[in-house]
Amino acid sequence: MRVWAIANQKGGVGKTTSTVSLAGLLTEQGHKVLVVDLDPHGSLTSYFGYDPDSLTSSTYQLFQGDDVVSKDAILALVVDTAVPGLSLIPTSPALATVERQMTGKDGMGLRVGKAMSVIEAEFDYVLLDCPPVLGVLMINALAACERLLVPVQTEFLALKGLERMTRTMQMIQKARPQPLTFTIVATMFDRRTQASVSSLNVLRKQYADNLWRTTIPVDTKLRDASRLGKVPSQHDPEGRAVRAYRQLMNYILAEDKQVEDDQKDAKQASEQLTA
Ligand SMILES: Nc1ncnc2c1ncn2[C@@H]1O[C@H](COP(=O)(O)OP(=O)(O)OP(=O)(O)O)[C@@H](O)[C@H]1O
Ligand SMILES: [Mg+2]
Repeated sequence: MRVWAIANQKGGVGKTTSTVSLAGLLTEQGHKVLVVDLDPHGSLTSYFGYDPDSLTSSTYQLFQGDDVVSKDAILALVVDTAVPGLSLIPTSPALATVERQMTGKDGMGLRVGKAMSVIEAEFDYVLLDCPPVLGVLMINALAACERLLVPVQTEFLALKGLERMTRTMQMIQKARPQPLTFTIVATMFDRRTQASVSSLNVLRKQYADNLWRTTIPVDTKLRDASRLGKVPSQHDPEGRAVRAYRQLMNYILAEDKQVEDDQKDAKQASEQLTA
């Protein structure tokens, strides 16, 4: 299982859209994918036709009790979507109380990561959709993931938000046993507007090492897909944004493979040295 988090402290930058788009594309590759709604507002949950207000089983349960939830109890939270191979752990408004009451409590930041390791054998990929708030929910995602995607809208205010997000990542880096690989994804790019072009230039200068070189373009088909509750690749398989998200997925998969191969080589080398 590989766990990706999609996070940014700034709202409305394309986190949920990126989660849904990448999840849909991963299922097309034959992977079993779980998306987890860590946002009490429940956009991801609503996207797949569930009403967060009427749900009693949700991500909230992962934070209940004193210890990690059992495998059966976690799997009982998983619901199907209309997309073959794509499952969801929905949210409910109760999750907001976790954010309010449990931020800063010992051990609370590791609940999601522990739960995902309990169900490791059940899914190939888990995508964690975060709220636009730095609190215990986002911290859980940043602690649980192997890879963090940071969607950034190509406009001036979003760049300010990214500075805050970068400080958060630096803080998390210090607390994690393994380094956090993160990729900044420029979203809603419109090359006809000065704001998009100049903010992309700033991103390229300031975040050269972590910025995915391509961009996700503005594409109204994404909104249409969300209205219909379809993942974008089902709605418009060759649309501009879907093509861009496909490139992003391929880029990440290739990078992950490279890391895996390097680890294998290093292991082999060290075995040969100690044999
Ligand atoms: N590339 C795009 N082109 C056009 N519209 C987009 C694009 N990406 C996202 N949107 C639209 O922008 C709005 C915000 O996107 P989304 O909900 O994914 O952001 P978010 O970061 O998850 O927001 P929040 O912080 O509220 O959770 C939605 O209406 C979505 O359909
Ligand atoms: Mg969202």
